[in-house]
Amino acid sequence: MELQIKDFEDYEKTYRYSVEHPEEFWAGIADTFFWRKKWTNVLNWNFKEPNIKWFENGKLNITENCLDRHIYTNGDKPAIIWEPNDPTESARVLSYKQLLEKVEQFANVLKNNGVRKGDRVCIYLPMVPELAIAVLSCARVGAIHSVVFGGFSAQSIADRINDAECSLVITADGNYRGTKVVELKSIVDDALVQCKTINKVIVLTRARIGVSMIKGRDVWWEDEIHKVESQGNPAYPAEEMDAEDPLFVLYTSGSTGKPKGVVHTTAGYMVYTGYTFSNVFQYKSDEVFFCTADIGWITGHSYIVYGPLSQGATSLMFEGIPTWPDAGRLWDVVAKHKVNILYTAPTAIRSLMAAGDQYIDDKDLSTITKLGSVGEPINEEAWHWYNEKVGKGKAPIVDTWWQTENGGILISAIAGITPTKPGYAMLPLPGVQPVLMDENGKILEGNGVSGNLCIKFPWPGMLRTTWGDHERCRLTYFSTYEDMYFTGDGCLRDEEGYYRITGRVDDVLNVSGHRIGTAELENAINMHSDVVESAIVGYPHPVKGQGIYAFVIVEDHQKDLELTRKDINATVVRLIGAIARPDKIQFVRDLPKTRSGKIMRRILRKIVEGDFANVGDTTTLLDPSVVEEIKEGADKMK
Ligand code: WT7
Repeated sequence: MELQIKDFEDYEKTYRYSVEHPEEFWAGIADTFFWRKKWTNVLNWNFKEPNIKWFENGKLNITENCLDRHIYTNGDKPAIIWEPNDPTESARVLSYKQLLEKVEQFANVLKNNGVRKGDRVCIYLPMVPELAIAVLSCARVGAIHSVVFGGFSAQSIADRINDAECSLVITADGNYRGTKVVELKSIVDDALVQCKTINKVIVLTRARIGVSMIKGRDVWWEDEIHKVESQGNPAYPAEEMDAEDPLFVLYTSGSTGKPKGVVHTTAGYMVYTGYTFSNVFQYKSDEVFFCTADIGWITGHSYIVYGPLSQGATSLMFEGIPTWPDAGRLWDVVAKHKVNILYTAPTAIRSLMAAGDQYIDDKDLSTITKLGSVGEPINEEAWHWYNEKVGKGKAPIVDTWWQTENGGILISAIAGITPTKPGYAMLPLPGVQPVLMDENGKILEGNGVSGNLCIKFPWPGMLRTTWGDHERCRLTYFSTYEDMYFTGDGCLRDEEGYYRITGRVDDVLNVSGHRIGTAELENAINMHSDVVESAIVGYPHPVKGQGIYAFVIVEDHQKDLELTRKDINATVVRLIGAIARPDKIQFVRDLPKTRSGKIMRRILRKIVEGDFANVGDTTTLLDPSVVEEIKEGADKMK
């Protein structure tokens, strides 16, 4: 079977076939990959438990698909192009052959440090090639990686390490971000005070800052590589994995409790990310693909590492930030490396748009042929700017909707093939069967309807469980609607049948494309010794999409509240990380609660949107007068 869809008619035909014969369809796609042993059964599933198994009894290693199989035909092709934070430092290019060598070398390092198949390895690294190497080396030896984004705090790292019972951490001395250096190793040291399962830390040199190294526990990446070299650089044949062996855990926030470890397994994830990468972006053999996400998020896992590499593509990795040394940096990177496909987030587009056209107008973006957007709904203004200024009106924009739990893109245009409309993810990819549900659990048929977005049939890239707590997986995703995967998103299917994602319908915020759980954030704020209670809601933010608005009740209103505000911020940064720092904190005497004590977030949301007129009925509140007080306070916050 051909992997790539040719035209719109082909899409329609393929889509129909994928729904009518899902097993045959996915078997055909899976056949384009390399298997040590073919599967005996394509799909076994129910959404009740849930229990989802793709390509049962198939044996493979994803790194043989991402690396070894390209060596014979394309060994010298760049696999990874790396652009450093500082534009005066040299870029690095790793061909497929070189990347495989490095992965085998580091797989040996992992082995020498006691890592075995099935062990969990925490990775807390900057966006340097060694991050991709570390991820792939784990996959090579069959260890399960748990990458933690560099913006998370020591406490968050400790929670993730303890939940997955990781035995080893891979980190670096420091991480460059614009003019700043983040002291990664020191953050890991703070985390490890709380972790009993870690017995080794491998430390990469990047920022050349002083770090503490503990004898017997901490080793240098470079020293470990030298040891492997002195052993004669032995090859590292890939560990044979079962199709359903876990490949990685990635933590993500939900509406309740602590972040959960989303578990993705080997074969389904590989097939799904490879297929969607190839199709959505219509990747052609010499193109340079630039996804601006961090590998600490699912977008980086799927569309910097696994998807592009399984398809033999050239993937560009950028260490820095789009606004340093100035707001033209991303365009300089595009010009320097002749990027053909750019995949970024609306929040980045809005911030570069706000910086002014002088940063983009004289840049050479002539190589760009396709553009992608991901992470949050894209507003029309940003869409048009992206289309005109970046794509010069010639590059199709694919607005790709998906989630950490999905593994890869579910609803999106196919570049140059599906029509596009600003703000619309457009159509489901082959194999994806979306349905819209009303509040009472009824399927909304036909077009011109809005409801809660569910998926009624499994796709290979979907999560299988949440680490250590299968019941939580069932409750979160498979219990709201019977026999459906519930996404947590609201969605419109317009008169023409095109999908538009309208945003979360649960208590999850999307701040600059990052998922923030309100309950998790409230718990962090409530840890502050002066705080009695808090409530978090999102408000429209011109660059971030959503900003974080915290309503906080403190014990003593006579205190210096400016200082308390700073303390609350510091508490959040310590417990979660800077990405969860509230944009606004309003101190209140009380919160709008029902007589049963439930906080009426709907009212708070209307207040922060400035939509005082539509606050709605407040008579059922325990104390309706608090609403007026909060409105007055909110007015003063503007
Ligand atoms: C949530 C998932 C995997 C993508 C990166 C974020 C929102 C994502 C879009 C889009 C509108 C989008 C949804 C979703 N979202 N892409 N193209 N249009 N909304 O992954 O952190 O798991 O967040 O991001 O609300 O549920 P994530």
